Amino acid sequence: MTGSRIEVLYAAETIADRNRALAEAIRDAGYGERLLVVAVLKGGFVFAADLIRALHHAGVSPEVDFMSLASYGAGTTSAGTVKVLRDLETDVAGRNVLLVDDILESGRTLAFAKRLIAERGAARVGLAVLLDKPGHRVAAIEGDFVGFTCPDLFVVGYGMDMGHAFRELPYIGHVVDAE
Ligand code: IMP
Ligand code: MG
Repeated sequence: MTGSRIEVLYAAETIADRNRALAEAIRDAGYGERLLVVAVLKGGFVFAADLIRALHHAGVSPEVDFMSLASYGAGTTSAGTVKVLRDLETDVAGRNVLLVDDILESGRTLAFAKRLIAERGAARVGLAVLLDKPGHRVAAIEGDFVGFTCPDLFVVGYGMDMGHAFRELPYIGHVVDAE
């Protein structure tokens, strides 16, 4: 896939500006108190890494944990079931939790994660997603903090992959001609 042409949708600086605004909105919404950021792997790791540093600049000192969920194969449509591949190490009871992921599409994975964390007694469970693709929603869930509402295209970069490639791109793009 090294010869693929990628059309840039969100440049690195555009994403950085948005992350700063999101961090301030998260702080202003009162999540700053004993905040636990839960990065959803794998796609959410780049966004989470930048968002926690934006939170630092906004005066918030979160703890960070990771959760790996599978509801998606190597293809480009969401499958129906969700499995926990790697669970949290942190006790979420009484905590403000912010789930951080790359894309909210059908919402199945994030609705599952949100319910699981709420059932474990979190004081509050918020959802920050970099991209919202509202056209394909199946579960009743919306992002509390959304970076961009994304056109209905398969996107890569900034943590997001296509067949395990392109996660390293510093921008978000659309593959025009996959090779
Ligand atoms: P859903 O909301 O449960 O359907 O899952 C959304 C997940 O599917 C995201 O977290 C991504 O991992 C993956 N996904 C959805 N759309 C795209 C895309 O355009 N590019 C890369 N991954 C995607
Ligand atoms: Mg994902």
